[in-house]
Formats: sequence, C-alpha cells, structure tokens
Amino acid sequence: MDLDIPPGFEFGVATSAWQIDGDVAGRGRCNWDDFADIPGKILDGATGEPACDHVHRLDEDLDLLAWLGVDAYRFSFSWPRVLPDGVGPVSPSGLDFYDRLIDGLLERNIKPVATMFHWDTPSAIEATGGWTNRDTAYRFADYAAVIGERYGDRVDRWATLNEPWCSAFLGYCSGYFAPGRTEPGASLEAAYNLILGHGLAVQRLRELGARNLGIVLNLTPVIAETDDMQAAADHVDRLQNGIFLDLLAGRGISPELRESCASVTDWSFVRDEDNAILATPIDWLGENYYSVFRIAAPSAEGVGGVGQDTAAIPACPPLRFAPRPPFTAMGWEILPEGLEMALRLATDALPGVPIWICENGLATDDVIDETGVHDPLRSDYIGEHIRALLRAGERGFDVRGYFAWSLMDNLEWSSGWTMKFGIVHVDPVTGTRTPKDSALWYRDFLAART
Ligand code: FCB
Repeated sequence: MDLDIPPGFEFGVATSAWQIDGDVAGRGRCNWDDFADIPGKILDGATGEPACDHVHRLDEDLDLLAWLGVDAYRFSFSWPRVLPDGVGPVSPSGLDFYDRLIDGLLERNIKPVATMFHWDTPSAIEATGGWTNRDTAYRFADYAAVIGERYGDRVDRWATLNEPWCSAFLGYCSGYFAPGRTEPGASLEAAYNLILGHGLAVQRLRELGARNLGIVLNLTPVIAETDDMQAAADHVDRLQNGIFLDLLAGRGISPELRESCASVTDWSFVRDEDNAILATPIDWLGENYYSVFRIAAPSAEGVGGVGQDTAAIPACPPLRFAPRPPFTAMGWEILPEGLEMALRLATDALPGVPIWICENGLATDDVIDETGVHDPLRSDYIGEHIRALLRAGERGFDVRGYFAWSLMDNLEWSSGWTMKFGIVHVDPVTGTRTPKDSALWYRDFLAART
C-alpha cells in the first residue's frame, strides 16, 4: 500500500450472531427467528438454522481468523443465548460458548471486540413491545451487566449497539426488518429508547471496570442532488444521523426534528432527566460505512437498494433515492470518498472521540471454478476504502482501525443467502469454508505490514 499505516492501527473482520451462529436450539428465540418464520419476509426463506453453523465450527473459524492474520475480531453476543428469556436465569452453555470464543481469540493473539446487540432481540422482550417499550432499555442494561461482569477483563473493546438506525427504522417504520412493524411514531420512540439503553449499559459496564466502551452507528452522508431537494435531504439526514449524534452529544432532539415529525409523534416519551444518560461519555465510536444517500426529486424511477427506502423515514417528504453507478449487488453506490464525509459527520458532533470503521464491504456475484472463488471487485473495494481511511487519518481524523464486513458469507437478514458479503465463501449446504481471492489479498496485505 502506498500510504503509511500508523503504529497500532488495527485491522480486523466482523460478523454478527444471528447471521452466522446457527444452533438455534442452544438459545432462546429472537425477533429474527419469528420474522424468518413468516413466509415472504426473508427472500429465499432462510432461517437462523444452520446459518454458518459457527457455534459447532468455532475452532475452525478461530483458526481461519489466525490464518488471515487479523489484529482484532468483531463479533456480537446473542442476548437470548446468554439470557434465553431476555431476563432471568443465564444459560450456562451460552456463557461457556462465549468463554471459548473469547479465550480462543486471546490464545491466537487476536483482540476480541464485542457488540452487545446486533438486532437479535429476545422474543420475550419483543413481545412486550421491544425497543418501543422504555423498559427494554433497562432490561438491556441488565443483560449488558451480565456479560460485562463475566467478560469485562478479556474483551478489548465493547460496542453497546450495532446500527440503532436499522433496529428503529427498518424494524418499526418500514417493517423491512424484524419485528416488521410499520409505525413511524413508535420507530422514533425506539430510536430514543435504544440510545437510552446504550447509555445505561455504558454506565453499568464502566462501574464494573470494563474498558473501551462505545457504540457503532451507520452514519451515512446525505447529498441533495439539486438545490430544491436540500430540505428533503436535511430531513433524511436528521433521521439517519442527527437524531443519534444529537442524543449522544447531549443536545436532545433538535427543534427541527421535533417539528418535522410532529405529524407522527408528540415526543411525549422524551424526558429532560434522561439527557445525562443518553450522553454518557463514550471512549470510542464505531462507524459502518457502505455508501452515501443521494436525494433527488420524486419520479417514476426506482428507489435504490436496501436501506434506501422512503418507507423507513418517518414523515418522509416526497423524494427519490438516486444512487449513481458503480453499484454493488445490493444496488448500493460505491464511493470511497464518501468515507471521509461519514467521518466528518462523527467528528463534528463528537469531537475528540476516536473512530474505528467497524464494517465496510460489498455484496458481489462471485465466480466459482476449480481454481477458487474469484471476487476481484471485493479486493478493489476493500483496498480503496482502506486507502481512503488512511488518507483521512493523514488529514487529521482520529481513525484507529478498519474491519471488513464480513469474515464469511452469511445470512444477510431479509436477503437471506442471496447476498454474499464474505471474504470467505461458505457453502450454504455443506458449510465448507473456502477463502476467496479477497481473503488471500487481505491476508497478504496484512502480512506485508512492517
Ligand atoms: C450492516 C449490518 C451487517 C450487514 C451489513 C451488510 O448494516 O450491520 O449486519 O448486514 O450491513
């Protein structure tokens, strides 16, 4: 690579529990199990069993990480594997699994980076309203304390939530994700309760002595394609980025957002006394960067790929998402320059907080033949984004690491197995892992660091 890599800069890969674990019988049910059982919700009818059968193939996957030569591995705890009913008794076999995972990483000299919640709400908690119920924030903090107490001495860095935007707005507004509710007002309440749960969890873990506490957001630059779409773009930006950054920065809900969403909520769930919890200081921020959103005037043309859906935007004004080529298989625009724009969103709102890119990657149609699994676009994409990140570092952004999404092909939520993001191919029938060309490239790149 033609750019210097700062000392201590971390490289890793990321996964999440529901997408890879399998072994559904070994844990409590979650919202995504229930969602997957509804015909049509997941494109190819896939369910959480067997996913990548990671629970039963743990040692093989740990060896794969060691073979890659990553510094760190970002995984997520499954709340219902630790607490099958979301509250109450812990599962000894669940705790044992995470002991083996974390100790296995440490034995291989790989730093464990743990996400506490990557969208898999225990079904028993979802039944009480899930994140639209304020009480869930407190139940989440109790769960966080259980894992913080047990693993706090061994986990290197903690993220409370992964992309609360998806939980709130795809889960409760567009209904594209579990639990599939379509209630704009409730989705705003969910966004608020998620950050409340985050703040409470950070406080509990800090008290327990756990280190490096943060959160992972999918901050997405929003670009107005024409001047007359600026107001619509601002509305999208406030819901995509602003609401989370404002709450974390202690600014509460902005007057602009209060007003523009007044048709769907009276905001009565907001309490002044929550401010200190919502804005509990964090030690680091994770950003997942995939693309930008371009806002154009409405027309009969398509609305773009997953995650770019006006139905996911409470009180959405007339607009159209207009991604530009080149596209990934998801229909997402490829734009490495957008990474620095995403970093700016974070540093403007939360100055002084160091940033890790916790996910970045793309879905491709790989070519499989007797010589291997060929995915040239993926190595290019990852290389270009690493370059953009290191360049941003040279320009003064406090960036500390990069995680590729994902270690392996997995269950891509509502797209099931139809979208492949892995650097390692997983045969959905046999579970056999085969490093793709991009994994070989990443391994060589990591090995060549001086
Ligand atoms: C992110 C999710 C991750 C994966 C990638 C493609 O939004 O955090 O689980 O689905 O997108």
